[in-house]
Amino acid sequence: MKKTLFLFITLIGLSITNSMAQKLPVYLDDTLDIETRVEDALSRLTLEEKIAMIHAQSKFSTPGVPRLGIPEIWMSDGPHGVRAEISWDTWAYAGWTNDSCTAFPALTCLAASFNPQLASEYGKAVGEEARFRKKDILLGPGVNMYRHPMNGRNFEYMGEDPYLASTLVVPYVKGVQSNGVAACVKHFALNNQELWRNQIDVEVSDRALYEIYLPAFKAAVIDGGVWSIMGAYNKYRGQHTTHHKRLTNEILKGEWNFDGCVVTDWGSAHDTDEAALNGLDIEMGSWTNGLTWGESFAYDNYFMAQPYLEKLKKGELPMSTIDDKVRRVLRLQYRTNMNRNRPLGSFTTVEHYDVARRVGQQGIVLLKNEKEFFPIASNKYKKILVVGENATRKLTPSGGSSELKVKQEISPLDGLIARYGADMIEYAMGYGSGPSIYEQVTESPYDTEALRKEAVEKAKTAEVVLFFGGLNKSHLQDCEGGDRTSYELPFGQYELIEEILKVNKNVGVVIISGNGVDMTPFVDKVPAVMQSWYLGSMAGVSTADVISGDVNASGRMPFSVSRKLTDNGAMSYGEKSYPGDGDKQHYLEDIYVGYRWHTTKKIPALFPFGYGLSYTTFGYGDLSADKKEYSKDDVINLSVEITNNGKVAGCETVQIYSSQAKPSVERPIRELKAFDKIYLQPGEKKTVTLTVPVESLAYFDDAKHAWVVENDTFTLSACASAEKVLKQVKIKVK
Ligand code: BGC
Repeated sequence: MKKTLFLFITLIGLSITNSMAQKLPVYLDDTLDIETRVEDALSRLTLEEKIAMIHAQSKFSTPGVPRLGIPEIWMSDGPHGVRAEISWDTWAYAGWTNDSCTAFPALTCLAASFNPQLASEYGKAVGEEARFRKKDILLGPGVNMYRHPMNGRNFEYMGEDPYLASTLVVPYVKGVQSNGVAACVKHFALNNQELWRNQIDVEVSDRALYEIYLPAFKAAVIDGGVWSIMGAYNKYRGQHTTHHKRLTNEILKGEWNFDGCVVTDWGSAHDTDEAALNGLDIEMGSWTNGLTWGESFAYDNYFMAQPYLEKLKKGELPMSTIDDKVRRVLRLQYRTNMNRNRPLGSFTTVEHYDVARRVGQQGIVLLKNEKEFFPIASNKYKKILVVGENATRKLTPSGGSSELKVKQEISPLDGLIARYGADMIEYAMGYGSGPSIYEQVTESPYDTEALRKEAVEKAKTAEVVLFFGGLNKSHLQDCEGGDRTSYELPFGQYELIEEILKVNKNVGVVIISGNGVDMTPFVDKVPAVMQSWYLGSMAGVSTADVISGDVNASGRMPFSVSRKLTDNGAMSYGEKSYPGDGDKQHYLEDIYVGYRWHTTKKIPALFPFGYGLSYTTFGYGDLSADKKEYSKDDVINLSVEITNNGKVAGCETVQIYSSQAKPSVERPIRELKAFDKIYLQPGEKKTVTLTVPVESLAYFDDAKHAWVVENDTFTLSACASAEKVLKQVKIKVK
């Protein structure tokens, strides 16, 4: 009896649930496909509601449509962690106490890891943090190319090579989006300097645009399926890039079929007609025309708010423009905050710290290592003298929009103390900079002479000195909103190193920066140099892991470090090329960015792209291709046997570059086409197989507006860096 009653009640329950499900309006029914739901939602919206959906209601949100239960969209920087909560109407921090995140290493470090699997873990982890913090769009990653070392924001990007950045951006994006959080790849496009970023008008050839500056964006869209893209502040051929007929309408939404949202950079919209017609979908951060410099009316006066509404009502702009934008916003919402199945996210977990630590370990680059200076085993010295402000300075705050408020940031000094014990580590600051204040240069509050004296005094009796210097994240260093003013190390670091060397030659230098710095004043005088990065929460742990040899060094330079500034292609052409005259600049080095310049013009870099040492050595067998001749839709399968010839385990990054024998146009001597990072035990051998699609050997033909692979002989080289060829194989394309 009881059983029958139970069954009866269950059946009634089920039929009520079913009939309720049947009554769900189409736009809320998640058994239906997204496009059907988008059209239904669109049909229910008033024009005013549509307008509200495409511009900000606060610094970091749009309002959704409360009447229909369509949620607000919340966004956050990006890309190295989830930024602390910001006030509704101002840039001031909101002062929450539950928003201290995990800081992951800067994207330059991820690039130096040459490890797409790590990029995937990084994306997934930072996406989990964003989801936990109820963000729907994470404003990152950045994939503007490292054109020259003066750009204040290079640390947020993935280096100088389009193939490297493309290979890493895809798994990062997929990782973030696996959480139901949209990545927002930025800054589209040609935002390669901070100086005059709001108005500088870039002139660049189509060939350089397609070969160098667009591929990582294209990969994010086509291979990564990214759901949003952020426009840039600068202009290109006379028009602001955020609402750019060619970039946004023709290339992004035309050639690449992008179905997501184009979001402004904060305040990068400039005109209602252009925004309406040239593919901008969401306007954020505008202060409009200055008449509305205030908080309450600003949002209504956005270019895509009242002004757009009025023009639509008067028939001055077509309704199809707003409908296309709203469709895209709705699509993004169905993928994110209207997807009821998305995971819940997690925050500052052990797993996230572990990802941060491993990215740091794999990104640190060993540049020079005479007399086996590194690794420093626990019993090698009785005491290690650590010198330099960057051994203790917090490097997660500052730097502009990517600055982070963290639960923990372990400094290199603390990491070394934890690894070697407090008794073994002594510290002297040696030099000091000022406090980091965005867009202000601050005076150093320190007595430079006294700091230097103390360090030199301690160095006299030290067995070994580890110098931690480089840049920091203050204005005019590695920081948004300004470019560096010099290639040199700031704050008297050269003089300090020089003074220390007079009393102690056993000095290892660790440069922490997001840009190449002039290392010539000390590189030949010290036995060892490491390039480190802004490593985030686990900075000190990753650093100690590599310094101690607990983990072998395996990072590779994601950009070339030139001997002198003018050895860099963009910088070699003077003001016209960089920084321009305040209005206009011409990318005169054209496709010869980074190592493409150094190798082709035969100007060796001090440390080339792809370069990095290890605590072991690797041997390369012959490089072989599966055929001698290929047709244009073939894939070239390459293989090479790698042996770990040393006494410790380690990772080798096999890099394949191509060069064409007799191109009908100028081509760089070498272009990266494939890489793989493998791990080998001492004595172990592995055959690495790499694939190079023949179509990737193409150059971009401006006149035909097409990628062209010529019938010719191509040399594929397995290299230790862009400048060091180890093995080669020639193939023919017919
Ligand atoms: C930056 C963006 C950032 C945005 C929001 C802008 O100043 O250029 O990268 O996402 O602010 O903070």
